[in-house]
Amino acid sequence: MLATAGSAIGLGNIWKLPYMIGVNGGSAFVLVFIACIFFVGIPLMMTEVLLGRRAQKNPLDGMAALAKEANANPVWRYVGGMGMITGLLILGFYSVIGGWVLSYIWFALQDTFLNIDGAHAKANFDALLASPVTLIFWHTAFMVLTMGVVANGVNQGLERANNILIPALFVILLILLGYSMAVGDFATSRHFMFSLDFSKITPVAVLSALGHAFFSLSLGMGAVMVYGSYLRRDVSIARTTIYIALADTALGLLVGLAIYSLVFANHLEPAAGPGLIFQTLPIAFGHMPGGHVIGVLFFLLVAFAAWTSAISLVEPAIAWITENTRITRLQSAWMIGLTVWLLGVAVVLSFNDWSHIKIVFGLNIFETLDKLTSTILLPLGGILMALFAGYVMKKDHVQEELGLHDTGFKGWRITNNIVAPIAILAVFLYLFGVIK
Ligand code: PFF
Repeated sequence: MLATAGSAIGLGNIWKLPYMIGVNGGSAFVLVFIACIFFVGIPLMMTEVLLGRRAQKNPLDGMAALAKEANANPVWRYVGGMGMITGLLILGFYSVIGGWVLSYIWFALQDTFLNIDGAHAKANFDALLASPVTLIFWHTAFMVLTMGVVANGVNQGLERANNILIPALFVILLILLGYSMAVGDFATSRHFMFSLDFSKITPVAVLSALGHAFFSLSLGMGAVMVYGSYLRRDVSIARTTIYIALADTALGLLVGLAIYSLVFANHLEPAAGPGLIFQTLPIAFGHMPGGHVIGVLFFLLVAFAAWTSAISLVEPAIAWITENTRITRLQSAWMIGLTVWLLGVAVVLSFNDWSHIKIVFGLNIFETLDKLTSTILLPLGGILMALFAGYVMKKDHVQEELGLHDTGFKGWRITNNIVAPIAILAVFLYLFGVIK
């Protein structure tokens, strides 16, 4: 359970959700995102945990074993295979952003933020983005941390640290929120994030919100399946899932509220994009009492949260390689680590020297990887797992695994078998231009 929480809570909550809220127009996005968490994210997280716990294997072999148990076509294994590749594609940019966080620990340690204003905070961030060498240095540091843990198979020690560090992250965020409520423009921030304005809901916001529900809960690529396979038989899947999803969502929204209070009070741009937290939070740390220490602690805890998520992005692929070939953990960590590192270098360059290179629809390398994984690959993995659990597996097996009785099980079935697949399908049809 701790491992799953560690995987779910990461840059998705602290870095990505806040800027996506701004880019997608505020409250409309938040509303759809919360709906996606409840009607798609929570049921599909239960599904992925149950698949993992029943299969007791890495995603690819696990799906193969479950397909065999259900007398189904072995091609289902490729759902697991696709997930492993998706994880590596995500890590390609996740590690670069993890590097930004590491470099901000360094800035915070040097007290760079003291009395900083919005313009300087932005200039600081822009200078970082403009330097490929610095970015590659920090990206490499993040990859070494991640692959070091994976190569040595010492994930469990780290997961236990979540017990203390996730609550610590909540505490720091509450302090930050308290500060930005006191000095920032909290009323506008609350209105921006939570006013019920259905008219602003656009198809693109729905698309992004659904994709982000998958990203934030680590769904659709087998990470949760791997951790589900470690979950003890006597633990309730439903209860565990709901706790994790609620904590994960609450954490992200808390960061959003704190950030937008600062954004509006300092006349910054809500739709600033991926740099948003790096351009706003230093202002708070530079002015609040004890801001030096709090800033260092904040970025340390975010780095830790990103680290545990990054590990879960590679673990399925490493588990599959080591369980199926004679390649050792160390060798596979090197191979995968180097490949992903190279991908990360391309991502780094897409923020500066290669920013003019567009892959598809005017998106650069970073944006392409981000959109491809969040809006296509994760939901695709999710819908396939949902259909598998809902229509291919034996109903008794599913119910036995979930341990839910009548109403609860019915609720899961309706959302897993009907609501979530229709929602994902509708979004795909829109994406491919069928529905306008
Ligand atoms: N859920 C992580 C976050 O919010 O930062 C990112 C992530 C981890 C996505 C693992 C997907 C995954 F399989």
